[in-house]
Order: sequence, then C-alpha cells, then structure tokens
Amino acid sequence: MLQTKAHPEDQLQDILDRIAEQAHALYGQGKVASYIPALAQVQPRQFGIAIALVDGSCVSAGSAGTPFSIQSISKLFTFVLALKLMGDDVWRRVGREPSGAAFNSMVQLETEKGIPRNPFINAGALVITDMLTTRYAHLDIALLGALRRLSDSPDLNWDMQTAKSERDTAHRNMALAYFMKSYGNFVNEPELVLDNYCRQCAIEMSCAQLAQATMFLANGGRDIGGMQEQFLSADAARRVNALLLTCGAYDAAGDFAYRIGLPIKTGVGGGIVAIVPGVGTVAVWGPELDAKGNSVLGAFALERLVQETGWSHD
Ligand code: DON
Repeated sequence: MLQTKAHPEDQLQDILDRIAEQAHALYGQGKVASYIPALAQVQPRQFGIAIALVDGSCVSAGSAGTPFSIQSISKLFTFVLALKLMGDDVWRRVGREPSGAAFNSMVQLETEKGIPRNPFINAGALVITDMLTTRYAHLDIALLGALRRLSDSPDLNWDMQTAKSERDTAHRNMALAYFMKSYGNFVNEPELVLDNYCRQCAIEMSCAQLAQATMFLANGGRDIGGMQEQFLSADAARRVNALLLTCGAYDAAGDFAYRIGLPIKTGVGGGIVAIVPGVGTVAVWGPELDAKGNSVLGAFALERLVQETGWSHD
C-alpha cells in the first residue's frame, strides 16, 4: 500500500507513469462519442491523468495539460452551485436515487411524474440548470467564474463550436425538458435552458485543472487553490460525494463502485474525476468510450490506481 506521507510525489509519479503506459494498450477498445458532431472530430488515441493532493502538490502523466470537453462533469459543478444557493430545496424538484438507466433515458420520467431520479442524469441536470437559469442572468459567466477561481485558470472557457454542435442536435434533451414542463417541473423556456446547458457541457478543461477544481470535495468543502475558502460546507461536500458514488456513472454506477469504489463523475468527452476524501482528487481522460458512455482508458486507469494505492471512499 502507498505511504501517502513519505515521498508521496515520487511514488505517485512512478505509479502514474506505469498506468499511462498500460493504458495505451487499450487504444481501440472504445469509440468517441458521435451523437454530438463536434465530439466525433476528437482524436481518439489520447490519454492524460492528474492527481491533486490536499497538501497542494500535483502529479500527472500523459496529456494532463490538454483541455477537453468536460460534458457531464459540468453537472457536478452546476449541482454544487444549486446546493449552495438553494440547500435542501433542490430536492423538491429532483431525486437522489440511482436510475439504473442510460444518462439520456426518458422512461422513468413518466411514471415518476416529471421528477428526475438524480441531478446527474440528463433530465436531472436540466432541472438543475433550469433552477440556475432563474437565479443567474448569465449562467455561463457565473459558472466560468467559479471554475476559473477553483482551478486558478483565468483563461478557462466554453467552446462555441461544441456548444452549437450539441445545441443544433439536442432533440432528446429538448424532449426531456418539454416533458418535465408538462408536469410543471420546468420554470424557464426549454430553449433558454438548453442554451445554458450546452454551454456548460462545452466547457474545456484539462485533467490538471479538473483535479484542482474538484479539490474542495476531498477537503471537507474547503478550496486550497485560488479561493482558499470554505466553498461548500463539510456536510454538503460529504453528501455530494455520496451522490457521486451512487449516481456519478449512471447505469454503470454499481460497476464503477465495485471496480473503483470512489465518488466519481464521468463525461462523454472521455473525462472522469474521482474524489479521494482527505487525500486528493484524480482526473483522467481518454476519449474512447464504452457502450454506456464512460471512458475505457479512464476507468482502467482509476481501477489500477486504487489497486496500487489502496485509496477508497472512506
Ligand atoms: O447532454 C448530453 O448528452 C451531453 N452534453 C452530456 C452527456 C454526458 O456527458 C454523459 N456522461 N457520460
């Protein structure tokens, strides 16, 4: 097991270099997301991994500095913003149970009267973005502001082409929004919320930036980067981690908990962030996805990492 106190960076660097080398052997086992045309253009054979530790150090391997489309990882940040603003009131409009269904599934919404199972499936994330659209005149600016401070990256932005590409083809998400509106669980015009949602999904960040931006979740809600503040209460951070563990990988959440056992959030851009409470955060990226829309190389790398370090959610 890894000694996290003695020479953690040297040991971790060796582990990450080894994992990066092994991950390359998996190239070709998945496919880049193609239902968003801009994502289909991404070069599939890429890999990066970064670990940020609560002592402020960072270790990385591969293309850890290359920005990629964070996609559903943005749902973690919008959910945290909504929780900060509204507290337990968010649970009036969205549940907190795993869905066991695909991230963009519609089937449960009818039997459950327009209340999505959790904030990370598309329907739930759209409700969260609807809540934030009511609160912020310019949600993209507010979200980017928080992410720039958390990751110490003033230049961070969303990619206009990716946002437009998703917005032009967002028929299913639009259907989810209108369906929820028919149940009275959507306040703003779906068109406006979809604009905001496609922008948040099109934010581009590197593994190194994502690891730093999620650090507050490993550190009792306290940011150690640009903000140096209690970004979220310790109790709320603990609850966000519980949701990430049970719902962060949609219908693969059980498999991810079994293989990796950490709170995680995946995105169809091929990124995954994992939280190791009290220790640090890991961000990993490989654009080739499995059939459930999660990164093949990312899941492999996280599994190897927890095997080598003994890191777990407790
Ligand atoms: O709404 C969508 O379908 C995408 N913008 C995000 C989906 C996603 O990243 C699912 N995660 N693995």
